[in-house]
Amino acid sequence: MSLVLLSLATLCWGTVSPEPTIRCGSEPGPSPEWMVQHTLTPGDLRDLRVEPVKSSVAMEDYSVLMNVSWRLRADASIRLLKATKICVTGKSNVQSYSCVRCNYTEAFQTQTRPSGGRWTFSYAGFPVEPDTVYLIGAHNVPNANMNEDPPSTSVNFTSPGCLNHIMKYRKKCIEAGSLWDPNITACKKNETAIEVNFTTSPLGNKYMALIQNIIVIGFSVVLELQQNPPSRASVVIPVTGESEDAVVQLIPYFRTCGNDCIRRKGTVALCPQTGMSFPLDSRRSTLGGWLPLFLSALLVATWVLSVGVYLLWRHERTRKASLPTTTLLPPIKVLVVYPSEICFHHTVCNFTEFLQNHCRSEVILEEWQKKKIAEMGPVQWLTTQKQAVDKVIFLLSNDVNPRCDGTCGRHEGSPHENSQDLFPLAFNLFCSDLRSQTPLHKYMVVYFREADTKDEYSALSVCPKYHLMKDAPTFCTELLRVKQQVSARKKDGCSL
Ligand SMILES: *[C@@H]1O[C@H](CO)[C@@H](O)[C@H](O)[C@H]1NC(C)=O
Ligand SMILES: *[C@@H]1O[C@H](CO)[C@@H](O)[C@H](O)[C@H]1NC(C)=O
Ligand SMILES: *[C@@H]1O[C@H](CO)[C@@H](O)[C@H](O)[C@H]1NC(C)=O
Ligand SMILES: *[C@@H]1O[C@H](CO)[C@@H](O)[C@H](O)[C@H]1NC(C)=O
Ligand SMILES: *[C@@H]1O[C@H](CO)[C@@H](O)[C@H](O)[C@H]1NC(C)=O
Ligand SMILES: *[C@@H]1O[C@H](CO)[C@@H](O)[C@H](O)[C@H]1NC(C)=O
Repeated sequence: MSLVLLSLATLCWGTVSPEPTIRCGSEPGPSPEWMVQHTLTPGDLRDLRVEPVKSSVAMEDYSVLMNVSWRLRADASIRLLKATKICVTGKSNVQSYSCVRCNYTEAFQTQTRPSGGRWTFSYAGFPVEPDTVYLIGAHNVPNANMNEDPPSTSVNFTSPGCLNHIMKYRKKCIEAGSLWDPNITACKKNETAIEVNFTTSPLGNKYMALIQNIIVIGFSVVLELQQNPPSRASVVIPVTGESEDAVVQLIPYFRTCGNDCIRRKGTVALCPQTGMSFPLDSRRSTLGGWLPLFLSALLVATWVLSVGVYLLWRHERTRKASLPTTTLLPPIKVLVVYPSEICFHHTVCNFTEFLQNHCRSEVILEEWQKKKIAEMGPVQWLTTQKQAVDKVIFLLSNDVNPRCDGTCGRHEGSPHENSQDLFPLAFNLFCSDLRSQTPLHKYMVVYFREADTKDEYSALSVCPKYHLMKDAPTFCTELLRVKQQVSARKKDGCSL
């Protein structure tokens, strides 16, 4: 009797047994099941997905986690399934690695959910840093035997940057200015002045506003008294060059992020013409009737003028054909040498971009000429470059930055060939120049963090040194001086 009841109870229990859920905990090492031989193992998991979610912690200690979700294969092997193990590798300045094991609280009785559909689970954990590449791998436990191919699934996840709607509340991002809304407004006052207004941030009081039109045509450092609530700063920036379609780049220097704060952009409009404005409706009636006629007259006049200007221009051009064009100087050729331990992508690429965009330079990098170097030999290559370029820049940096791998821009030859470090060679080769004062103007030293001219490179201390971005204006001016000495003095793009 009691036996019958018991079996009835088990039967009922069996049918209404709670659905399996997961209980997860860290398991850095191999699973204990790894040590045991299994004759049968569950199939692999399906549809591994990752998305960032906010952790439900208080606003000020907000963190972003990975929500890892997966589905189970609907086949008989699900009965053997005990757990799913997820491991995440983060590629940041320090490579991170952590694993979590999620045990299924019950054995699976059915291949699909009683309510229909595959078994689906998710685990929110693994803190996410901005702008980081993660590799997420997952496999079911018990895993395949040691000498068999373990079925495992993996996905890559690149976390969004600090301006992302979820990331921006991270403490690190907030400190870099993610919540700051500068609301940049800028307008062209006249041919030589642009007015920039922006809302200051309580995070800092130093800003640099650059006006760029492919190249930098003007800039200004703004120091504001810190005010609470933040106020509007207004600055008139002198520009040299066409400011139509220019953009404003606002670079903040906040306490915690220094040179690496989030930069903002704005567009330059035309300033509303004061004084010339007239009340519109008083004139509209008279203007209205004449407008079509006036416009067509204007069109004809413009056409006639354009043809005239074109003919004049052609005439001028044929006359001056033999003269060199004086409007634009050729770019400055710059060889950038850097030690191999430097963070290539972050430091060298950014610096190259800065040279190309802001200082009208043509940059030569070892990384781009691997094939040529292999053909010519490094010494010959360096000697040739030294003669060909206007400037040699030694780029020093003790920067330790997350995004250290990767390459920038054009490739010549294979990107990650093992090659010798060209920096000491370049240093020794150019060293004789550094000792004799004459060709010294050819060399410059640039660094990003505090100066760290190592003892072995102490000869570099005779070269002019620039701390970027702090010394950006003087650096650029100095760079452009080379060409100015050669050619006639000209208005140039990088007149910082
Ligand atoms: C999951 O199961 C394994 C093996 O039974 C056990 O060692 C581990 O502590 C369990 N983990 C959690 C979070 O319950
Ligand atoms: C994680 O993703 C799953 C599936 O998309 C969803 O059901 C779950 O609510 C998410 N968890 C969190 C904490 O957002
Ligand atoms: C993830 O990225 C790594 C390297 O970045 C690559 O080797 C791997 O094939 C990628 N995996 C997937 C599933 O995309
Ligand atoms: C931005 O500034 C302009 C001009 O000061 C103002 O009209 C506008 O409301 C501001 N927008 C925001 C989002 O604060
Ligand atoms: C900047 O602010 C000044 C003074 O508040 C104002 O007169 C001017 O119109 C503003 N300019 C722009 C471009 O917003
Ligand atoms: C342009 O505007 C600035 C500031 O309003 C003024 O100082 C400068 O004289 C003006 N230049 C010309 C050519 O009108």
